[in-house]
Amino acid sequence: MAVEQTLSIIKPDATRRNLTGAINKVIEEAGLRIVAQKRLRLSRLQASTFYAVHKERPFFGELVETMVSEPVVIQVLQGENAIAKYRDVMGATNPENAAAGTIRKLFALNIGENSVHGSDSAENAANEVRFFFSGMEIVG
Ligand code: CMP
Repeated sequence: MAVEQTLSIIKPDATRRNLTGAINKVIEEAGLRIVAQKRLRLSRLQASTFYAVHKERPFFGELVETMVSEPVVIQVLQGENAIAKYRDVMGATNPENAAAGTIRKLFALNIGENSVHGSDSAENAANEVRFFFSGMEIVG
């Protein structure tokens, strides 16, 4: 297995409830290393560009408004098989379907406020990491 990097976003529903540390604990206990992290308030342009792949979906407007409503914490996670591993650690997109012990089962409120985002492929991980971080900001 290769060492990979993946992009994680701790979403506004979680930062609002002061859950950054609790989520980071689950991430680190799963063996993923947080090699970059910053807290910021997304603009509408940043949120709609980041989620452009969903722009024709009926939930797109709500998704953008949710993502700009409060600060987010953007991270790069590194580890063996990090992309698939973080998707396992997050659990299903809809927390009703998420497995026990996953971040979304533990903390998510509903499908739109599902506490975290993680890249879904190697190509998207590379693009998403590049969208938010320069190489200098990632320290393994
Ligand atoms: P995320 O992994 O960040 O990718 C797109 C997001 O759209 C997803 O998590 C959900 O939070 C959000 N979303 C809102 N409604 C839906 C829906 N009906 N189906 C899929 N994703 C949704």
